[in-house]
Amino acid sequence: MPSCSRDRTKVVARRRTTLVSGYIMEYGRSSSGVANGSSQGVLQMQTERMTAWFEATASRHSRRVYTAAPVDSETLDTLASACEGFHPYPDARVTLVTEPGTDIFTGVIGSYGKVTGAPHVLCVIVDEDAPFAQQHAGYVGEAAVLEATSLGLGTCWIGGFFDPEKAARLVRLGENERVVAVSPVGIAVDDYSGSERAMRTMSSAHKRKSLERIVPEGTAGWPDWALAAVECARIAPSAVNRQPWRFRMRNRDLLISRDSPIEMPRVTKALDCGIAMLHIQLGALSKGVMGRWEDLAEGPTMARFVPLGEPE
Ligand SMILES: Cc1cc2nc3c(=O)[nH]c(=O)nc-3n(C[C@H](O)[C@H](O)[C@H](O)COP(=O)(O)O)c2cc1C
Repeated sequence: MPSCSRDRTKVVARRRTTLVSGYIMEYGRSSSGVANGSSQGVLQMQTERMTAWFEATASRHSRRVYTAAPVDSETLDTLASACEGFHPYPDARVTLVTEPGTDIFTGVIGSYGKVTGAPHVLCVIVDEDAPFAQQHAGYVGEAAVLEATSLGLGTCWIGGFFDPEKAARLVRLGENERVVAVSPVGIAVDDYSGSERAMRTMSSAHKRKSLERIVPEGTAGWPDWALAAVECARIAPSAVNRQPWRFRMRNRDLLISRDSPIEMPRVTKALDCGIAMLHIQLGALSKGVMGRWEDLAEGPTMARFVPLGEPE
């Protein structure tokens, strides 16, 4: 029987203040599932934690080969608490599985997605019936990935090449829930192995689209916080490094949209865009601007970031 570090019942029953990495992180949910900013008192995240996540955006790279050495229990507890404590949406959550006891990674050696030696696994879980669950999953999943990175651990989003049935057996799922993505967690080998290096070259993992590509209308007149936000989103991970996000400003708000409605099998663009949404929030905060995301269902436009001002 695999050991799941936490289950849903406990998560829901917890008070809305959670100790994360020695800091108090307060969080909350509105009935609409909108993640709100500090000044409205609905979502308050400890600024130090988010600063650590912001710093981790620059050092994070997908790692697929691990030493197999287990991570110490204190570090695992910190990561598990961060997963539980950051729960801004009711329809997406992350669980750390400390002893998966089975290989859920199905990639083929030497090609995209083969993960070896990872002792622990993050499972990103969505409520399938919720309309914005995919982007919410990207948002909370990336928080877990960045928390792990800030703790010195390796990660790699895996949306396609994992066994969903095996993954479902690792966690306690609600009626409408499924595991939408996973990530290995562990100590990555010091050097990129031959196959990992080849894979990174093949997928051009280090390359990012230019600012001009992801902001087609240009950034003339943009405030500093918005420039920092899109620069941070630019380095976000995405499936096959496709970077499907596009940004534009309307009045004081920053909008994110998909590049096109065409979807590939396995991983939705909404999941990728949810990852970029967290990066936007962290980039804005690096310039002292808190804000909240509002989900939108307006053609390709997925959400609007509303800046709320300086952190308190
Ligand atoms: C939602 C999502 C799904 C992904 N799925 C896979 C996967 O199935 N297999 C894999 O090897 N990498 C996967 N990746 C990792 C991407 O290939 C990687 O993030 C991208 O090439 C950029 O490289 P970097 O993460 O090192 O910056 C996925 C990434 C994201 C964000």
